[in-house]
Parts: sequence; C-alpha cells; structure tokens
Amino acid sequence: MTRGDESDRGQSQTGRETVEPPDWFVEQANVTDPAVYDRFEQEWPDCWREAAELLDWAEPFETVLRGTDGPPFEWFSGGRLNAAYNCLDRHLPERKNQLALVWEGHLGESRTYTYLELYREVNAFAAALRDRGVGTDDVVTLYLPMVPELPVAMLACARLGVPHNVVFAGFSADALATRMERAESEYLITCDGYYRRGSAVAQKNKADNARIAVDHDVSVVVLDRLGRDVHLGDDYDDYHDLLAAHEGAEVEPVSRAADDPLFRIYTSGTTGQPKAVTHTTGGYLAHVAWTAQSVLDIKPEDTYWCSADIGWITGHSYIVYGPLALGTTTVLYNGTADHPNKDQLWKLIEKYAVDVFYTAPTAVRAFMKWGEEYPAKHDLSSLRLLGTVGEPMDASAWEWYREHIGGGECPVVDTWWQTETGAVLVSTLPGVDEMKPGAAGTPLPGIEASVVDLSGVVAESDTAGELVVTRPWPGMPRALLDGTGWGSVPDNAKEWRYYPEDSVSVDDNGYITFLGRIDDAINVAGRRFSTKELESTVAGVTGVAEAAVVGADDETTGTAVYAFASPEDGYAESELRAAIEDAIVNAIGGIARPKEIVFTPDLPKTRSGKVMRRLLTAVANDDELGDTSALRNPEILGEIQSTTRRE
Ligand code: WT7
Repeated sequence: MTRGDESDRGQSQTGRETVEPPDWFVEQANVTDPAVYDRFEQEWPDCWREAAELLDWAEPFETVLRGTDGPPFEWFSGGRLNAAYNCLDRHLPERKNQLALVWEGHLGESRTYTYLELYREVNAFAAALRDRGVGTDDVVTLYLPMVPELPVAMLACARLGVPHNVVFAGFSADALATRMERAESEYLITCDGYYRRGSAVAQKNKADNARIAVDHDVSVVVLDRLGRDVHLGDDYDDYHDLLAAHEGAEVEPVSRAADDPLFRIYTSGTTGQPKAVTHTTGGYLAHVAWTAQSVLDIKPEDTYWCSADIGWITGHSYIVYGPLALGTTTVLYNGTADHPNKDQLWKLIEKYAVDVFYTAPTAVRAFMKWGEEYPAKHDLSSLRLLGTVGEPMDASAWEWYREHIGGGECPVVDTWWQTETGAVLVSTLPGVDEMKPGAAGTPLPGIEASVVDLSGVVAESDTAGELVVTRPWPGMPRALLDGTGWGSVPDNAKEWRYYPEDSVSVDDNGYITFLGRIDDAINVAGRRFSTKELESTVAGVTGVAEAAVVGADDETTGTAVYAFASPEDGYAESELRAAIEDAIVNAIGGIARPKEIVFTPDLPKTRSGKVMRRLLTAVANDDELGDTSALRNPEILGEIQSTTRRE
C-alpha cells in the first residue's frame, strides 16, 4: 500500500484525541511490533544490544551495561569501534556510489557527495590533521556554517579518534574563545566567510579575534568559501591546499573504547558559563542510530532532511551521525526558510524528493503565519514522515504541519530530548503508536522516566510535575556515566535519577506533554540560553546599574528574551539600548538579541533585595501580576507595565 490509498486520510479534525498511523506507513516502517516495549522492559539493559548491533565493532563488547548498581556506568564495555568507519567505510561495499550528502548552498549553489567521495575527502583531511600533529588528547574546534566541509571535518576527527568541538557559526568571537579556552583546544577549522540571506558574514574576523583572546596558541585551517581571494594573513593553512596535498591518502580508523569521547558540545548551564557535554563513541552512536531507525524511520534508500544547524546537538545526532550510520542520504542546507522566498524549503523537498523531514516547532509556527499557499505550490508527496524537536509542539501547529506539509497523511513525531541526552528519549514510535497532537509521547522502549511532584514523590498519572529519568540510557554523556554531574546521584542504581529540568503533564495513557523548562534556561526558537549569562552581559554594560532578563511567550519563537535594565544617572536610553544589543551580540551572538529592552528606574524587589523575575515575566506576558505584597517597591510595576511593549 502506498501513500494516498486510504480514502479517509487527509481530513484532519482539529481537537481529536489521538491519531492512528496510516496502514501504508506501518506496513513499511522499521519498527512495527508493539511488543518492543515489553521486550525492552523485560530484557533491560540487554535490550540495548539491539542498538549496538546496528554498528560494526572493531572489538565486540562484553557487557551491555556495567554499573547496574549505580555510577560509574559503562555502556558496551570492552567494545571498541570507530565512528567514521561506521558512517563511511562499512557502507562502501554496498553503496559507494549512493549519495551520502546533498548540499544546497547560497542562491541555488549545490554539491553532492557519494559515500565514496565523502570517504575520500574525510581520509584526505584526516591525513592532513594527523600531519599537523593532532592526536587523541587534543580537541579540534570547528567553527563552520552549514557546508559539507563541516561533516567532513567532524568525521575526519572521528576517524583519528580525536574529539571535535563544534561551535555554532553564528556565535560571537567571545563565545568561540570561551569554548576554545575551556576545551583547551589548540586547533581551529573555520572559513573566510559565508552568505546568509544574501549578505556575506565575515567568519574569519571573528575567528581571528577569538584566536587573540585565547591564552594558548591555536593552529588554524581556513576554508575559502567566498572565493574573493582576500588576504587572510599568513599564519594558517588553506583547507583546499591541505586536501590537495593529501589526495588519495587513506587513514586507518583509530578504534576507541565504547566510552571514549566522540565529541564535546557546549550548552547553556545554570552557572552563566557554557556547560560542556561530552558524548561517547559507542553508547552515543548506538542510541542515535537506533532512534534514527525506530523514531525517524530512516532507511538507506531515503533522502532525509533535518533542517537544524550542525552547530547544535540536533545536527550532530540527526544530520551527521544517525543518518550516516544508517547509510542514508542526508541533506545539508546552508540557508534560511524564507530566502529568497517563503517556499524555499518546499522547493528543496520537491527538488530532492525528501522522504523524511525533521524540523523545529518554531519553524512550523512561522510556516503557519506565512500561509498554506507556499507549500501548496510544490509537490510534497515524496514525504513519508515528519518530525519536530526542540520545544513544545502545540496541537494546532501539529495539525497544520500534518495537513499542509504531510498531505494530511504523514505521521508526525514530536521528539523530546536534550543536548545532555544525546538522542531522543521521549516520542511515539511512528510504526507502532497512536499519536496525540500536543503531547510528545511516552518514554521510548528501554527508557524509564516518571513524573515527580514538587515534594519529589512519584506522581500518579494524569498529573503535572517534573520529569525524571530513572534509568541510564546509552546516549548519556560522560558526566552522568561518571556520576560526577547534574542532579542527585545516590550510590545505588535503583535510586539513580537524572532531572532534565523540564516540567510536564502526563495523561492516563502515559503520554507526556512538555510544558517548559523549570530552571533559568530560556528556550528561544528551540535554542537554549541562560538567564544568568544574559543578565550578567546586560549588567556589564557601562551605564547599566542593574539588569534582569526573563523569557516571555512569543507566538513564533515560543519564548523571547525580555531585558529590563535600570540606567545609571546621565546615560541616555537610546545609547544604552544600542550598547546592550552590542554587548549581547558580542558575548553570545545575534541569535540571543532581546526582543525588548525595557528601561526602568528600579527593578521589582523583595524587602531583602531579591529581584522578583516572576513579576517581570508576568508584565512581559501581560498576565495578572498576582500577589505583590512581598515587594518593597510595588509602585514600580505600573511604570514598568506602561513602558513594556507587547505584541
Ligand atoms: C530542552 C533541551 C534536543 C535538541 C534541541 C534542544 C526542550 C526539546 C522538546 C519537545 C518540548 C522540548 C526541553 C529540553 N525540548 N525537545 N519535543 N517538546 N520541549 O536541545 O538546547 O539541549 O534543549 O529543549 O525543554 O529540556 P537543548
């Protein structure tokens, strides 16, 4: 049966409780047996052998999980493998001429790589890095936009067994420097610049400034993207020269222990400093490959597109490692959804006949706003499955996505996970489960999670509380494996807990609806920022006496940053506004720019001087303020309300 065979498909009824996956989908899905849940439960942790068996091991593992009595945990202990071998070499006998990467760049520029071509470029670049002395104790920082050379460099590092440290290309020089400093990274791969919305971004300038700011020496490779032949200085290597010098080289993949690091990535922590998350070679890759197969239903013959940026974990797991481990064709797009026109994504789905599309709810909300006429212009019938990640997906966006992108027929998976979890933990299995618009789903097979109320007691179903993961999972990062990081880690596994800091509600069938963060993180368009980091940046501006930053509701980005600042005497608001924006752009990047900067002579404070951010959030949301009796200066609220601009 193929898509469209069932006459009752295509009418979406807003407000329905659950939606069955269509038969044509189930018939072809990778995972279709509902018994998978019970089987994983009964066989836990051995069930995860199935994930590990999606990979080729240089040395087989002896134990699926060591440390069932508590941390330190070790997944697939005794096993050794190489991630690049798993993403490239092992596919060559069957599909050397199949496309591995399809890249769509600026203004219709495009390039493709077969598995053999990608294998060759990765080997040449790995040889170049090895010649420069890069070894397994180093960390190589990659500061590149969405170009094929980014996955090439990641896989070259993986081939050498060297952890990479991808820094989102839109981050500032300061943000890059902090991450290189903290990672003690002495190698940087970047480019001269790139185009975004038609204008050139000077990436190398930012990289140069970061290099100056870092205390140690940094060896730099620059990719010429703009072809403008601008003078970049002498003290670096040119990417293409390096490739040419190592053309035809083959580098033996360096096998790593299952729990050796594959990469590190920084996310926003609660301290105001970026938090390093280190993922492993075996556990991470197994978890990512298994979820790419079971949740995203990826098959080798698919053309699969995840529209995230590789600079975030989503791109690591589900543009690069998951799809390539499964031997599929993965699409890389260096552009935005509305440039040159608002049908750009749909044009590309048609052009490449994309089978599975994975994006963020914020993007879906933007598509809804732009209107259904844009997708309607294109043939999207190649699509089989749609997915979202990064923030709560409300039922109306879910329905719209299914109706106007999925032709009213494609299953939609709402996948919940985090930088820390490495791979999806909560979702539906599209070939097994009913979907419930507005809810992500249940914990995946092999994942155990529950909800605790505020007193820490496991809550009954149909209730709200905080999500807690109660068993280890293969994609867990080093700090959790070691028992050194995040949350209370008592010394027996039964009591072991990981708190993702998400508030949730659960229905009678165990379907989880995610409601938002409970820590000080602000999720803007699926990207995580720390209130503290933003606040200290604003407060650090000369002329700002005090600052508070909150996240408030936003129709498109889910949450938006509102900054409240009280100026020192003698500073003009217009100048301060520009200085605050600059400070944020410099410290983090344009993506963290506040939606509103509100000036106020004072912040709402308790008698002990604590800023009541809850009230600022209420002001930004235009909500009832509730009890303000704890304030020492309640009169300030009216003034703040009158100066805060809302939609
Ligand atoms: C936080 C993690 C996983 C890659 C993207 C973000 C929120 C993530 C969902 C979802 C509701 C979601 C959570 C989570 N989140 N997916 N399907 N429904 N909320 O990674 O920057 O590490 O942020 O994003 O609040 O804790 P991240």
